[in-house]
Amino acid sequence: MSHNGAVKLSGTLLRQLRPRIFSVSSSYGNAAGAGGIGIRHWSTAASPPASEEKKAPQAAGEGKVVISSYWGVTPARVSKADGSPWRWNCFRPWETYTADVSIDVKKHHIASTFMDKFAYWTVQTLKYPTYLFFQRRHMCHALLLETVAAVPGMVGGMLLHCKSLRRFEQSGGWIKALLEEAENERMHLMTFIELSKPQWYERALVFAVQGLFFNAYFFTYLASPKLAHRITGYLEEEAVNSYTEFLNDIENGKFENSPAPAIAIDYWRLPPDARLKDVITVIRADEAHHRDLNHFASDIQCQGHELKEYPAPIGYH
Ligand SMILES: [Fe+2]
Ligand SMILES: [Fe+2]
Repeated sequence: MSHNGAVKLSGTLLRQLRPRIFSVSSSYGNAAGAGGIGIRHWSTAASPPASEEKKAPQAAGEGKVVISSYWGVTPARVSKADGSPWRWNCFRPWETYTADVSIDVKKHHIASTFMDKFAYWTVQTLKYPTYLFFQRRHMCHALLLETVAAVPGMVGGMLLHCKSLRRFEQSGGWIKALLEEAENERMHLMTFIELSKPQWYERALVFAVQGLFFNAYFFTYLASPKLAHRITGYLEEEAVNSYTEFLNDIENGKFENSPAPAIAIDYWRLPPDARLKDVITVIRADEAHHRDLNHFASDIQCQGHELKEYPAPIGYH
């Protein structure tokens, strides 16, 4: 066969195969495209207001999109304890929890050493421009805060992962604990994105801040993990403070106590009639746990030990 003939034949074969291998079809596709299913409907806890049924068909639960493939990878069917189907792809029932809101939200690590003071003043210096920029626009502030807060756990977890590989040693569970923290922070962000749509300049700001912060934190963690954890501990203290202000404004009626988004109701196992105040309360409790975990991680290293010597507080919420 000539070269041209071979090219034509392969082109014909690809055209024939492509729709079979890569086509995306959905038994719900048309209905969803026509606005048939809304986010709250997929929640197992939240009720589906008729007015919201036209929103976001792309957040479909299992089985909504069928991809034709010969690889035999079939997602497991996940059910709730009561046997009803689990509707979220982005997290599973065993990742949900009831937040421990009894945690002390006023705890503060007193900066006594030079490193502590450096970490504390670094966070204070970073804090004031954001307070000036956002002032009482709590939702936008929370959005930006969460895009930053989800970085340290991922960077720390990744670097500990590489260290574990390099040194042929266990991590004491700290990789998992830090990645859990990053995922928890990202779920905060996924919750806020249901309540607020960032403007283009806020997206641009997040883009720039992430580029700077990821690299700065990465090199800080490489140079001194105990300093990096201390900085995160103070960042979490500030997160607790800013959510306390948010809660005060909701209580004072300065901010609308809107219904909680379905994703939050399912993730934190909140009652179906939960409101924004309940969501901010559990998020603040999460931040207080992150604060403790990171100050603890720094303390271990400040006392001359390695993280792997102490079992990590996995599942510490
Ligand atoms: Fe957070
Ligand atoms: Fe946090």
